[in-house]
Amino acid sequence: MRHSASNSLFFRNASQLVTLAGPPGPRRGKALSELGIIPQGAILTQGAHILEVGPTRALEAKARRLKAEAIDCRGSVVMPGFVDSHTHLVFAGSRVGDYEARLRGKTYEEIAREGGGIKLSAERVRQASVDSLLRQAQGFLEQFAAHGTTTLEVKSGYGLEAAQELKLLEVVRRLRRTARLELVPTLLAAHALPPEYSGRPDDYIETVIRDLIPAVARKKLAEFIDCFCDRGAFSVDQCRRVLAAGSEQGLIPRLHAEQLNRTGASLLAVEFKAASADHLDKLSSADLRALARSDVVATLLPGANFFLGLKNYPPARKLIEAGAVVALATDFNPGTSPTVNMQIILSLACSAMRITPAEAVSAATINAAWALRRADRLGSLEPGKQADLIVMDVSDYREIPYYFGVNHCRMTVKAGAVVSCQ
Ligand code: NIG
Ligand code: FE
Repeated sequence: MRHSASNSLFFRNASQLVTLAGPPGPRRGKALSELGIIPQGAILTQGAHILEVGPTRALEAKARRLKAEAIDCRGSVVMPGFVDSHTHLVFAGSRVGDYEARLRGKTYEEIAREGGGIKLSAERVRQASVDSLLRQAQGFLEQFAAHGTTTLEVKSGYGLEAAQELKLLEVVRRLRRTARLELVPTLLAAHALPPEYSGRPDDYIETVIRDLIPAVARKKLAEFIDCFCDRGAFSVDQCRRVLAAGSEQGLIPRLHAEQLNRTGASLLAVEFKAASADHLDKLSSADLRALARSDVVATLLPGANFFLGLKNYPPARKLIEAGAVVALATDFNPGTSPTVNMQIILSLACSAMRITPAEAVSAATINAAWALRRADRLGSLEPGKQADLIVMDVSDYREIPYYFGVNHCRMTVKAGAVVSCQ
């Protein structure tokens, strides 16, 4: 990794500067396609922020006055860094055994019932030291940066007991101190039922509410609270209690909703004015309408559908046409979506869900910033916003999903500093 010496950077002559500048508010419907592209564009940064954006010729004089370090972006697209609003970054080892078992014919839920799945990851976390969890996550963060992600949400969830969940959030706290990317911590305590609570899910929910949530809030270890509200996980009623307890302590709700089964979780998200409802494979038309009328960001995770070999994907077109705020994320996790690469997610969104490249770019930047309640600062390239941007080795942004499976990112800039360069 290279650090920039100058306080001011001048990215010049980009074939397309994709600004995403637009009216305030999350993007819905046709607005998802408006990328605010400046041909032969330039962007001037100062410190952590964006000073000016415009045609290269219009910015040259000011860049010279500031003695900005010039970065030639000819033949490249410059755009906001990806905001990955749904990851399970911290886990131990992999679940490559589950992967092979699935290829041999078992389903995700069968594997989970037989002791694989989330419980296997929890077992490994229990045995792992903070240092080893930290090292593995740091390695992944380098890869996130190299693929153009500048901000990511990070969930706990492989602890399955108070002490282990606190350990995972402690790892996230330590990562936040050292990482050059921005990490947004989420408590996902209700992820799977710990084996020792078998047959007593309500007792587990009680300990989460009584012990874990207050401890996390007191130590300021998380900003959001999430639950896996699904068949084989937790019911709407149980999740309602967890979200209520979390909100009372200042944690903002978000939900894993309607992934394996239609449960009513997306309506619960609307009820709580949650920041997001994620997955949404099994939405009913009433759910879809309710989400579209709300400010809950409908976050689609096509990496999980692809990796699980599913034929069906969430109803992205219907959501967009109904006016929902749609975002895209990796769902990076060892069980259902082990990819750090948002560019692949764009390809899947386009090819499998018929999202257009422009809609996918908005969903992976500005709308994802809304999902993390950071759109005032992140997700578009506008004066005054944070200088989080990527230089992509393509001359047309549509080539990012089109040439799929390779890394187009040649430089990642976070808060005005180069954090990855290849
Ligand atoms: O988002 N759905 C629940 N959680 C993860 C999967 C976790 C795992 O299998 O380890 C998801 O898909
Ligand atoms: Fe997830």
